[in-house]
Amino acid sequence: MSELKPSERILCALDTISTDEASKLARDLGPHVGGVKLGLEFFGANGPAGFNEVANADQNIFLDLKLHDIPNTVAKAIHSLMPLKPKIMTIHTAGGPTMMRAAAEAATEAAKNVGCERPLIVGVTILTSLDNEDMCAIGYQNKVSMQVVKLARLAKESGLDGVVCSSHEIKLIKESCGKDFKLVVPGIRPAGSAIGDQKRTMTPAEAVALGADYLVIGRPITQDDNPAEAAKKIADEING
Ligand code: C5P
Repeated sequence: MSELKPSERILCALDTISTDEASKLARDLGPHVGGVKLGLEFFGANGPAGFNEVANADQNIFLDLKLHDIPNTVAKAIHSLMPLKPKIMTIHTAGGPTMMRAAAEAATEAAKNVGCERPLIVGVTILTSLDNEDMCAIGYQNKVSMQVVKLARLAKESGLDGVVCSSHEIKLIKESCGKDFKLVVPGIRPAGSAIGDQKRTMTPAEAVALGADYLVIGRPITQDDNPAEAAKKIADEING
């Protein structure tokens, strides 16, 4: 498999409910990113029609809906979403191995039915908003990092293509799941940019050096006066 170019690793989070704003950003970013991420906020407000408007800007789309339900429902949701032809989709690993297997199989089958490239199905392990105390409250015995690795291994065994993880878990997961298991990493801050509400950040170059495959980067690009230039600088930083 060919190595990704630095720009292809950047997935810009379009955290807005405005289709005009999202489409303009997607268009302006052009070849300087590998794709854009649309989440629940955007999809809830604009649905498939909004998704298609952004897709018209010729960007790969990471549809981050974090599906979590019984296997049959998740599989059917993946079938319903496939005509949108997203390049990456997310599900919760806490849905368990049968649900993850059903999701992976549904993605293969639905992509074949639609005649599109099969999207990567990526698992959310432990939300980074949970700390060890929250883990205890919901009945997990393990510390966050141990639980993340356990769920990442389960995701791999259940046929998922990778997981979303914090930059601080990249090394552990790659060691445990191997280099081909894709890691999608948010909480990235280019050198010198505002940290904002992210608590544990890492620079793009550091994250890629540790083994991150894709970097989810929002505000450092979207809030810049020149988003395309900001993305280009990030790709250069990864390259350097
Ligand atoms: O780069 P920025 O902080 O603006 O990126 C925010 C995006 O990354 C949001 O879409 C958010 O949902 C996502 N994200 C995150 N932290 C996580 C998981 C996802 O910020 N642990």
